[in-house]
Amino acid sequence: MTKKRLLTGLQSSGTLHIGNYFGALKPFVDTYEEYDSFLMVADYHALTSLRDPKALHANIINVVKDYLAVGVDPSKCVIFRQSDNQDHMELGWVLNCMVTVPFLMQAHSYKDKVAKGMDANAGLFTYPILQAADIALYDTDVVPVGEDQRQHIEYAREAVGKFNRAYGDILKEPAEKIIDGVGVVPGTDGAKMSKSYGNTIPLFGTKDEIEKAVMSIVTDSSGERPENVYAIHRLLKSAEELDPIYETHKGRYGDLKKMLAADLETFIAPMREKRNAITDEDVKAVLADGVARAKAVSNKTILNVRQAIGIAL
Ligand code: TRP
Repeated sequence: MTKKRLLTGLQSSGTLHIGNYFGALKPFVDTYEEYDSFLMVADYHALTSLRDPKALHANIINVVKDYLAVGVDPSKCVIFRQSDNQDHMELGWVLNCMVTVPFLMQAHSYKDKVAKGMDANAGLFTYPILQAADIALYDTDVVPVGEDQRQHIEYAREAVGKFNRAYGDILKEPAEKIIDGVGVVPGTDGAKMSKSYGNTIPLFGTKDEIEKAVMSIVTDSSGERPENVYAIHRLLKSAEELDPIYETHKGRYGDLKKMLAADLETFIAPMREKRNAITDEDVKAVLADGVARAKAVSNKTILNVRQAIGIAL
């Protein structure tokens, strides 16, 4: 049986924390081999909101290192960069010609920026259509995304549908697959772990950084189980393993934190070491191999599109 095609787009969100890992990276690593998976670095999408060349360059390299370090095997999927394959720009343009301005004005990504009083650039305005091109170029069946991306997949279906109604059944309509991770990963203060709350544990942190974050976990003084410590510990170990330990160490928060820090170090160290061993040159080699494999698929789609719209002479 041939596998279904999966495609997802990555944008670097800076230094990863274990909330990102359990919420997004791990669910991806656990399932990508069930599909014919394409992992695309969305660097031209990033340009809609990032005008810092050094930061954009670093983000591209870093996001690939992150995914390799957590266990994505480039021989088992296609890892490539949007800007390395001009087919994205070309199909993006064609699909832009399929949709109306009022339709694009309804997109959350655009509306939210305008509501905040920001000057949305035209790239941001047509962002969902470049994303539609990313997806349609590879006859994608499923797009694993977080809830925030649901509308973008609807936009992709709409743009593809309009193209197909005008020119025949050329492009495939994608379905989204909402990732449900482990729900909310708790931070060091018990609230959702998030960079903006400053309550994170770094995914590739050093031993010292991990210890520091664990020691900062907020505990109450009830003398019972320190819930915030336990909640993070549960990401690594089962209740059966943890409950007896927490029972025998009742009230000894310092000891429990030390155990959590040690367990985190055991879990993080191999990924951290793997990440440190990946060079920029390794990343470039992965991307060069990936884009060749990506183009082998997308070039066919673009040829069909060119023929369908009447510009193939
Ligand atoms: N917009 C997506 C995000 O912000 C990234 C993205 C770009 C994407 N192209 C895609 C996701 C294609 C899925 C499919 O996360």
